[in-house]
Amino acid sequence: MGNQYPKRGDLSRDASSRGGESEDSSGVSRREFLKISGASAAAPLLAGSLLAGSLAGESLVSESLVCGSTILAAGEVVPVYGPGPLPMEFSINGKEYKANLEPRVTLLDALRDQFDLTGAKRVCDRGECGACTVLVDNRTVYACSLLAIEAQGRQILTVESLMQRSALHPIQQAFVDHDASQCGFCTPGFVVACKAVLDKNPKPTVDDIRRGLSGNFCRCGTYHGIQQAMAQLALTQKT
Ligand code: FES
Ligand code: FES
Repeated sequence: MGNQYPKRGDLSRDASSRGGESEDSSGVSRREFLKISGASAAAPLLAGSLLAGSLAGESLVSESLVCGSTILAAGEVVPVYGPGPLPMEFSINGKEYKANLEPRVTLLDALRDQFDLTGAKRVCDRGECGACTVLVDNRTVYACSLLAIEAQGRQILTVESLMQRSALHPIQQAFVDHDASQCGFCTPGFVVACKAVLDKNPKPTVDDIRRGLSGNFCRCGTYHGIQQAMAQLALTQKT
């Protein structure tokens, strides 16, 4: 079982739906969805009456639909957040954290800039490299691609949770033993991804390891060392 990262292919649409007006099971066509999405995205940026006026030409959003901090989208009243800071609470590495954050802030920025948890690295900042990998409810997540507001109420684990005082976690020690790090920018993300693989299966096969780490890139080419580290862990871990 691999990481839970969205694959690039997941973002592309089926060729049959590109140009047409196909409807999904919700009954909302692609064009309608884009209108709703545009209205929802614009709502936090504009005052209510201005928003209603600017969207008066849209068939799905009218003045009567915009009501303070909610908006009617696809027949449902949904809340609108921001654009200013909101009080948020997080559970990170077993501790509670609070901050006032704008809804646009990513989990990665919240970790690094607000809570001084800088283990997760910002490298591509677009969900491609895995340097920002953290666990959210035990699933690997690109922290650069998840809004902090959506991470509330979840159990967030970062690489900082692994070390116990000055003792390296066995995964970290295995990386040291097998020289699995060079510049180190990818390393925290790989360590977290390795933990996810081993949590799921303490005795992963080579294929399990490759698949589980397929969402993480190393520009220095430490893949062999990482695989050796994982092989060591697979031998020593208890099932
Ligand atoms: S920094 Fe998040 S995937 Fe690259
Ligand atoms: S050790 Fe440099 S990018 Fe992986």
